[in-house]
Amino acid sequence: MKTYINQNDRQILCLSSPIRKVALWHVTKRCNMECKYCYGTFNGSSYKKHIIKKDFDLESMLKVVDFLEKSGTNRIHLCGGEPFLYDKFYELLRAIHTTGMQSFVLANLTFLPPYIEKLFSEHLISNLSFSLDSLNEEYNLFVRGAHDIVINNIEMVLHYNKYYKSDVEIGLYIVATRKNLDYLIPLIDWAIQKNIDYITLQAVYLPQSHEYYKELSLTHTDVLQLERVFDYLVSCENKIRVSGSLLRFITKTLISKEHLSVENCFVEHNSQYFFIDGTGNIKTCTTKENIIGYITNKEILQCNNNPPNNICSEFCLDCIGIWEMVYPKEVNSIITQM
Ligand SMILES: C[S@@+](CC[C@H](N)C(=O)[O-])C[C@H]1O[C@@H](n2cnc3c(N)ncnc32)[C@H](O)[C@@H]1O
Ligand code: SF4
Ligand code: SF4
Repeated sequence: MKTYINQNDRQILCLSSPIRKVALWHVTKRCNMECKYCYGTFNGSSYKKHIIKKDFDLESMLKVVDFLEKSGTNRIHLCGGEPFLYDKFYELLRAIHTTGMQSFVLANLTFLPPYIEKLFSEHLISNLSFSLDSLNEEYNLFVRGAHDIVINNIEMVLHYNKYYKSDVEIGLYIVATRKNLDYLIPLIDWAIQKNIDYITLQAVYLPQSHEYYKELSLTHTDVLQLERVFDYLVSCENKIRVSGSLLRFITKTLISKEHLSVENCFVEHNSQYFFIDGTGNIKTCTTKENIIGYITNKEILQCNNNPPNNICSEFCLDCIGIWEMVYPKEVNSIITQM
């Protein structure tokens, strides 16, 4: 099945079926941080406010692992909230490892769990990524609330990876906002110098009603500068892996022009992607209510998937992260620009 991206009823891109089957799993809704732009703040709440809530027990989580394995998932992206806050995270990663599925962990690295060294010495994960949006202390403290501790923990993680010859890919997740565009090129240079394996650069996505929409969201006036950063990133491709050209194209189009709609989004049609939220809903799309199951403390309740919409007009900057997961850079060549 092919996915078409349209703008003003004109088809601008056609994507082949993705070849990866992935899940994005928010193993917890809890977080120790309260970043200004975080998804957790969208309904006026925050993941930090969930800090005292209880996560699912390990038994329920293992049922999810079983469900994902049976559905042919190859890779699980584990985040949240802050995944290292899930108290049985080590056990969960071991269980995933036993099935042969890959674990990709994305964390804020404001703290390291006691078992961090074992993740490397026991080769339990394929990838560990961290979020860092600049090397500017003032910016980091304003937007994310932490700086020095994160840089120190990154050094620690890089050290374990080298020491145990673990071959865990280390990734840097950067969120571009109106306020950090000047800091992005020095951050890219730093990542190269630290031998980080790849960089994902994504633009902040905020609903228009969000408190920081005006201050942080990118608009058409920022596109030239963002383009310069993307160009610089591409010029570093021989030194570090970077997000695919398709995603750069879509990001720029979305920021500079208006809305895109998507026909036959693979997300809705063939469950190539699962999103599991922190309250136990299993969905095929992060942004829609098309629930296919619920995690309970006893079992996974299957329910009927809502019929997919042929045309989705909700495509936004937030979808790009999903697409990035299922379209590896290698398949960019089979994406045809119309
Ligand atoms: C929700 S966090 C969860 C993992 C972990 N707590 C962290 O911060 O890395 C996953 C990623 O989404 C990014 N993110 C959060 N809110 C975002 C937003 N509104 N737009 C774009 N990216 C966002 C974060 O910076 C992080 O890289
Ligand atoms: S650390 Fe991650 S989950 Fe926590 S508030 Fe920041 S972006 Fe959100
Ligand atoms: S909102 Fe979901 S279904 Fe619509 S384009 Fe984005 S990922 Fe696809």
